[in-house]
Amino acid sequence: MDLGIKDKVAFVTASSKGLGKAVALQLSAEEAKVVICSRNDDDLIKAKADIEYKTNTELKAVRLDVTKNEQVTQAVKDIIEEFGTIDILVCNAGGPPAGMIEDFTIDDYRNALELNLISTISLCYEVLPYMKKKHWGRIINITSVSVKQPIDNLILSNTSRTGVLGFSKSLSAQVAKYGITVNAICPGYTRTQRVANLAKSFQKSGKGTISGFYKKIEDNIPMERLGTPEEFAKAVAFLASEGAGYITGTALQVDGGFVKGLF
Ligand SMILES: NC(=O)c1ccc[n+]([C@@H]2O[C@H](COP(=O)([O-])OP(=O)(O)OC[C@H]3O[C@@H](n4cnc5c(N)ncnc54)[C@H](OP(=O)(O)O)[C@@H]3O)[C@@H](O)[C@H]2O)c1
Repeated sequence: MDLGIKDKVAFVTASSKGLGKAVALQLSAEEAKVVICSRNDDDLIKAKADIEYKTNTELKAVRLDVTKNEQVTQAVKDIIEEFGTIDILVCNAGGPPAGMIEDFTIDDYRNALELNLISTISLCYEVLPYMKKKHWGRIINITSVSVKQPIDNLILSNTSRTGVLGFSKSLSAQVAKYGITVNAICPGYTRTQRVANLAKSFQKSGKGTISGFYKKIEDNIPMERLGTPEEFAKAVAFLASEGAGYITGTALQVDGGFVKGLF
């Protein structure tokens, strides 16, 4: 299936590893002009080289902390100067630390909101004027299945991501008339460094072994396995496609059936 995004300019944030990197690779494979970013230069350079090698394309890589408003503004300015527009925006960031209410202060919630919610809002504010001008745009906000079914021991993530869902839904209605779609995508457990880190902290807290951590997760997934970043990236690429132009305001799970509710 031709996704119709050849030469579209795609900005995928937090993309030196894991889900963001897989999305950048998939969009590059579809011949979009892709810009990746993260905070660590070495990982960024490695990701750029790896994706360019696998897709035989050229990528732009920007060192950027998405929680720093002025850096977001500058990065978007640089991309516009080089490519003239941004057609596809995939908002992603790291995940806040795992833990229960007793583990965190109010400032930890502020940091989680900055990381997941405010970063998404500031990226959208910067990019929307260019999408409106072209009367075409795809915004895909990476959240988590926790927006539909909160996950024990992830109180910060459960809290910060639901705001992203509210923002996405509101924004989708307000920009639809400009040919811009806005969707949230909700990964379930997917094999990335983030999940490997959660497994380590599970073991460290004395709750069980690493293999016990994975078994506990798999027992709750009808597919009986974690997802792969590539499976997730294919769903994002579809939402970014020309053909997905009438899909907006949704929150799509990519979770092997993990969420038990109807919606
Ligand atoms: N994997 C899952 O099963 C799963 C499930 C549900 C939700 N999620 C969520 O999906 C998102 C991506 O997860 P992942 O598994 O791909 O994580 P990951 O493997 O830890 O990768 C995170 C990526 O984000 C970058 N990053 C982190 N903070 C950043 C910041 N402030 N500014 C710019 N880049 C930043 C990291 O690079 P630097 O550290 O160098 O900046 C890295 O490239 C996270 O929010 C995660 O919580 C993941």
